Amino acid sequence: MPVIEITHPLVRHKIGLLREASLSTKSFREITAELGRLLTYEATADFPLERVTVACWSGTIEVDRLSGKKVTVVPILRAGLGMLEGVLDTIPNAKVSVVGIARNHATLLPEPYVDRLAGELQSRTAIVLDPMLATGGSMNSAIALLKSRGATDIRALVLVAAPEGIAALTAAHPDVRCWTAAIDDHLDANGYIIPGLGDAGDRIFGTR
Ligand code: PRP
Ligand code: URA
Repeated sequence: MPVIEITHPLVRHKIGLLREASLSTKSFREITAELGRLLTYEATADFPLERVTVACWSGTIEVDRLSGKKVTVVPILRAGLGMLEGVLDTIPNAKVSVVGIARNHATLLPEPYVDRLAGELQSRTAIVLDPMLATGGSMNSAIALLKSRGATDIRALVLVAAPEGIAALTAAHPDVRCWTAAIDDHLDANGYIIPGLGDAGDRIFGTR
């Protein structure tokens, strides 16, 4: 199942708060970061562990330690930056790879404009962040870029996914799992998710 809708009550509650059109920019930003934190928790549940020996106050014991690939977090500019703080709270040692993609308002096609990716992507888990999976064009473009630079373990975190975006992502990248706080109904004629959140970038950056 490449797209996983999180049903945890805290996630349901917070995504519901984001839907209120009157929410302040400050609150929208804070809740977006909180959801980033919670989605990360879900998306890393299969990270492998190893047993290591430590000197505990009560003597030598074995404890669990993460043993898998190092992580790079990949926010898609602009709106993905809103989730970044929460994700880094959870994985503080992750490298950050930035990808700038703007959706053309007329064609709805993704237009990449910048990328600064971490090195050694083949040996990293890449976690791509974007609050909105609408047509899926932006996410698919970011994933294609990561694959072209060697990444093989790629996961996506989104806040709201449209069925159209899920279909596009699943068709283009069936190997990529995506965790979402909500699966919504459809896209409107302008490519906005209904009911959705509106323009997530504008709401995070206060540029409405
Ligand atoms: C929005 C959103 C996604 C994209 C989703 O970005 O943040 O990146 O649209 O749409 P898609 O699935 O149809 O590609 P936008 O291009 O508006 O840029 P912004 O984040 O800078 O506001
Ligand atoms: N981008 C957004 O910010 N919102 C949508 O609903 C679709 C694309």
